[in-house]
Amino acid sequence: MSLQDVLEWVPERSVEEDLARQIDFDRLPAHVAVIMDGNGRWAARRCLPRAEGHRAGIDAVRDSTELAARLGVEVLTLYAFSIENWKRPAAEVSLLMGLLKRYLRLEIDTLMRNDIRFQTIGRDDELPPDVRLELESAIARTANNGGMRFNIAFNYSGRAEILDAARRALAAGIAPEELDENRFSDLLHTAGQPDPDLLIRTSGEMRVSNFLLWQIAYSEIWVTETLWPDFRARHLLEAVVDYQKRDRRYGGIKPQPVVVGS
Ligand code: IPE
Ligand code: IPE
Ligand code: MG
Repeated sequence: MSLQDVLEWVPERSVEEDLARQIDFDRLPAHVAVIMDGNGRWAARRCLPRAEGHRAGIDAVRDSTELAARLGVEVLTLYAFSIENWKRPAAEVSLLMGLLKRYLRLEIDTLMRNDIRFQTIGRDDELPPDVRLELESAIARTANNGGMRFNIAFNYSGRAEILDAARRALAAGIAPEELDENRFSDLLHTAGQPDPDLLIRTSGEMRVSNFLLWQIAYSEIWVTETLWPDFRARHLLEAVVDYQKRDRRYGGIKPQPVVVGS
């Protein structure tokens, strides 16, 4: 995927085209993770029920997924439902489950057309059987796609994921001295995937809300006031452009330029 793939898809002479041309395609974030927040506030501002905000959020999912695939991002992870979200009223929880099923049915063709491999991260076994069936079907249909990996974090929490990994390590009888960071990473849902380089949160909240706690150790964080249903290709392009201006040090120091002759 390349600049050409993005230019074919964005309007000519648009702000999106301008942003796409600023991107260095050799230094893309390998993994982009997004906390999709603000659906309820989007609806409230329009005097609509929260459900309408969640419905409208699907357009933002479609746009971001296709753009990320066209850019050539290796992994896109979208946080759609946290374990803590079960605290919401039953009607909202069941609407969110229903919307996930609807999204998968409507968007499977977009996923196939863009060679996207879909998977979920989270405690799938706690989801209602009809939701699991729909998820399994989308995972199976896209399993041989070789393009971008698309994770939906559903019934997910970072602490639960770490705890489940620790339990798996114990159950597998891994000796303490054999367990290191690489081995532990392989016990997480994101096994084999790069850690997120870029973490985006919409709606202006400055918190991580139990998302990918292990994996975001050195992610660059980009927060936008834009509410999730209004998030479009332009915002993702802005985030990538900003990410490429960051100075990532991983606890080290910035390499000093070599002064010739000194
Ligand atoms: C994000 O929007 C979607 C989910 C968490 C499922 P919210 O529903 O959290 O919207 P706000 O934060 O109340 O505006
Ligand atoms: C984070 O949003 C979870 C998802 C995006 C699925 P929340 O709206 O649940 O987070 P808090 O409650 O504002 O931290
Ligand atoms: Mg929220």
